[in-house]
Amino acid sequence: MRLTNFCAVLTLLFSTATFAQDMMPMTSGSMAKPMMGKPMPGKVEDNREIVPLTKSEITIVDEEMRQMLASVQGITDGLALRDVHSVVEAASQSGGTMMQELPSQIRMKFPEPFTQMGMATHKAFDQIAQETKNIKDPAPVLKLLSTATQNCVACHATYRFASPK
Ligand code: HEC
Repeated sequence: MRLTNFCAVLTLLFSTATFAQDMMPMTSGSMAKPMMGKPMPGKVEDNREIVPLTKSEITIVDEEMRQMLASVQGITDGLALRDVHSVVEAASQSGGTMMQELPSQIRMKFPEPFTQMGMATHKAFDQIAQETKNIKDPAPVLKLLSTATQNCVACHATYRFASPK
């Protein structure tokens, strides 16, 4: 009986401690997970740097963005199915030619670090397309996909598009 009570007290203590931890204000460790916080509507500030583009230029670039997301999906699906052809096909949709086909009047407006991150992303997709010969070991492809998506994450955290009024 006494032992049961002791256990109950211990359980209570532990759950209180965990609860208290959940209630702790954001620590520096949580900086790595920006989505975990609960932003207050009306008090949120978007501090990303603006890349000024016209509305139709944004439409063109956004379409490329959605294509890159589709490539990420196609590559992961191909990896899961061990389907080399699908992986290569999906990756080549978002390679360097995508950037070259973008009108130069748009490319000229990109800040230098933006261009660098864009090129690194397309290069990783090209590498996946060129280097995936079989998927006995998916790790090298996943590593390249991780490089590509690191650039998605970094660029999205830094920039946004907006058109002058
Ligand atoms: C060089 C910078 C950069 C890179 C690299 C980048 N993006 Fe973007 N992306 C942007 C910006 C800027 C926006 C617009 C965000 C805004 O205005 O709020 C955007 C928007 C998007 C959108 C929304 C498009 C729409 O129709 O509204 C998707 C989806 C997207 N990106 C996917 C990706 C994926 C997937 C990758 C990586 C494989 C990627 N992006 C890499 C800069 C980048």
